[in-house]
Amino acid sequence: MRRMSGRTLPWAPGKVPLMLAPMQGVTNRAVRQVFVDWVRPDVVFSEFMRVRPSADATQRLSHGDLLDAKPHGKGVPLIVQLIGRELEPLVEGAREAQAAGATHLNLNMGCPYGRMNVGCGGGMLERPEELPSILRALRDAVAGTFSVKVRCGYSDPEQIFSLLPVFEDAGVDFLALHARTVVQRYDGAADHSITARVVKATRLPVIANGDLNSVAVARRVFEETGAAGLMLGRGAMRDPLLFERLRGRAPEFAEPQSLIESHAHFLRALARQYGALFGASGNVLSKLKSSLAVMGVSDDARAYRPLKKAKTVEAFCDGVEQLAAGA
Ligand SMILES: Cc1cc2nc3c(=O)[nH]c(=O)nc-3n(C[C@H](O)[C@H](O)[C@H](O)COP(=O)(O)O)c2cc1C
Repeated sequence: MRRMSGRTLPWAPGKVPLMLAPMQGVTNRAVRQVFVDWVRPDVVFSEFMRVRPSADATQRLSHGDLLDAKPHGKGVPLIVQLIGRELEPLVEGAREAQAAGATHLNLNMGCPYGRMNVGCGGGMLERPEELPSILRALRDAVAGTFSVKVRCGYSDPEQIFSLLPVFEDAGVDFLALHARTVVQRYDGAADHSITARVVKATRLPVIANGDLNSVAVARRVFEETGAAGLMLGRGAMRDPLLFERLRGRAPEFAEPQSLIESHAHFLRALARQYGALFGASGNVLSKLKSSLAVMGVSDDARAYRPLKKAKTVEAFCDGVEQLAAGA
């Protein structure tokens, strides 16, 4: 029996939402806030929040994750993503996230790194028989939308077609599809011909994800797949203005100089956000460097060397100003 949730999606009817992808170790609250203030993605995702499995855990989510679950406001919905393995802890984690302010929840069914998360994330696709009860229980526990972010299969890219009825029957509101398999990790290219077939095979809104790194590619994938929306990850970190380029509010092509200006603008704003959040503590330097690491800067880019070598936040910020001055 199909369950129609009828819940209001976290984007306006008829809009093609451009979403900021969840990226563990990168898209923390400060990074998301810089995006929200600057290029306003239509929807932002939290990094995955690990649901503690142990039976004697008094709290399923860490204190830091609960702080991170609060919406950003400014009309940009936050979708909080959970990663876990067992039904009960996941349901309890969903309740804690909502008590901390989360409205929309998402289940990570794609993370390929099992060492810390055995059986979680993409590992869930190895136990498809457990999915109906887990998804239904989460659906019942979540007051706002409940969505999944999934790869197209564990090792078989056709597996997704057997999962679609499970998602529909459980009352999932939409799915974000990273069009690679779990075993593929980040190798090769995302295969959006599968995205197109998934869009045709389900009545659920499908958000296309994977390698949407330029206006040309994102537009082509949108037109060829009929996806309901697009999710940008590494491409958004490399070129935050990609959101605006796709809306026609910034030049279609990112010139090298404009990318450097964007990076300087982004990192300056991020240092300010971190200052406001953590003051002098909180390992701000390593957090700034984590963002820099996914901006696609080549190792021999001289202008970025002072940032990479910086030993203090002050030296990093001086490097940002040098970068801006040289752009
Ligand atoms: C550093 C990093 C961290 C990631 N962390 C998460 C995560 O927490 N949850 C998740 O669902 N996907 C995560 N992903 C996958 C991305 O959300 C996205 O699906 C993937 O990078 C493909 O999209 P892209 O080509 O636009 O980057 C991560 C990817 C990267 C590169």
